[in-house]
Amino acid sequence: MQHEILQISPILIPSVNEQLNALYKVHRLFEQSDKEAYLKEHGARIHGIVTGGHAGVKEAVMAQLPNLQVVAVNGVGTDAVDLDYARARGIHVTGTFGALTEDVADLAIGLLIASCRGICSGHRFVQDGQWPLHPQPSAIPLARRFSGMRVGIVGMGRVGRAIATRASAFGCTVRYTDLRAMPDVAYDFVAGLVELAAQSDALILAAAADKAEGIVNAAVLEALGPRGFLVNIARGRLVNEADLVAAVAEGRIAGAGLDVFVDEPHVPQELLNHDNVVLQAHRASATWETRTAMGEMVLKSLATALAGQRPEMSLTT
Ligand code: 8YV
Repeated sequence: MQHEILQISPILIPSVNEQLNALYKVHRLFEQSDKEAYLKEHGARIHGIVTGGHAGVKEAVMAQLPNLQVVAVNGVGTDAVDLDYARARGIHVTGTFGALTEDVADLAIGLLIASCRGICSGHRFVQDGQWPLHPQPSAIPLARRFSGMRVGIVGMGRVGRAIATRASAFGCTVRYTDLRAMPDVAYDFVAGLVELAAQSDALILAAAADKAEGIVNAAVLEALGPRGFLVNIARGRLVNEADLVAAVAEGRIAGAGLDVFVDEPHVPQELLNHDNVVLQAHRASATWETRTAMGEMVLKSLATALAGQRPEMSLTT
C-alpha cells in the first residue's frame, strides 16, 4: 500500500522531493487555492504530514485527517503544532533536532557582527557609488567591536550552546538564562531576563516559543540599553515587536539583527530604514547542507512511523 502524505510547506532539496514522491502519494496543500475543499476531498486517506517549523499544523487540520499517524516537522520549532492534541491521538510529531544547530548559530553571530559593524550599511554605501562622492573616512560613523562583548543568551538548548561556543571563541563573556540553570553548562546562569539584559552588550534569543510570548518587552530593552544589541534567530513572537520598534526608533537600543518576526512575511515598516537593524527573511537554516540533512530526517521519521514504529525524533509518543 502506498501511503499518502499531506505536504503543507515546500521542501527545497530536489533529492528529498524525489524520494518523497517515489515513496508516497504526495498532496501538496501549499499549491491548492481552496485548501478546505482539498482537505475534505483527500483528508481521510492522509497518513502523514510534512510541514515547516514556522507553518506547523493546526488542530483543525489534523482533526480532518482520521488516519493521521505522523507530523514530520522540517525544522526544530514545534510551537506551531498542537502537541497536546497530537499526543492525545497518539500521533508522532517529529523535528529535525540537531540538524540545523550550526547554521542557526552561525547566522546569529553573523547578524550581530553585521549590525554592530555596520556591514549592510557599508555595503550599500559602496554599492550605491557613495564612496567616491564622500571619500573622507568620517563619511561612515565608526562601528562597535564585537570581540569581547558581553553576550547574553536566552535559551541554552542546542542552538544556544552553539552560539555560546562561537561567542567564546571571539573572547566574549557569555551568560545565559533558561527555565533553570543547567548543571552541564559552564557559563553563568542569570535567572531574570531583565537582569541578563542589564549585564549584556548583546542579547541573543535562541529559546523555544511554545510557551513564551513577548518576553523581550520594553523593560528588557530598557535594561539592554542604548549600547545593547538584540539578535533573534528563534521566533518573532518572543519579542514584543511594538516595544522593539519604539526602542529602535528612539535609539534606546544600539541595533538589532532579526531573522524572525511576529507576522511573517510581514516586517514592521518602522524596522526597514535603520542602518543599525539588519534583517533576514527567516533564513537561519537555509543552506544546502542543513536543508539536505533536515530533509533526510523528515524522510526517516515518515518511514519509521508509517512502518508502525516510533520515530526517534518524536516529541509526542
Ligand atoms: C526551518 C524553523 O528552517 O526549525 C525551525 O523551527 O523555523 C526554520 O528554521 C523551517 O521550519 C523550514 O521549514
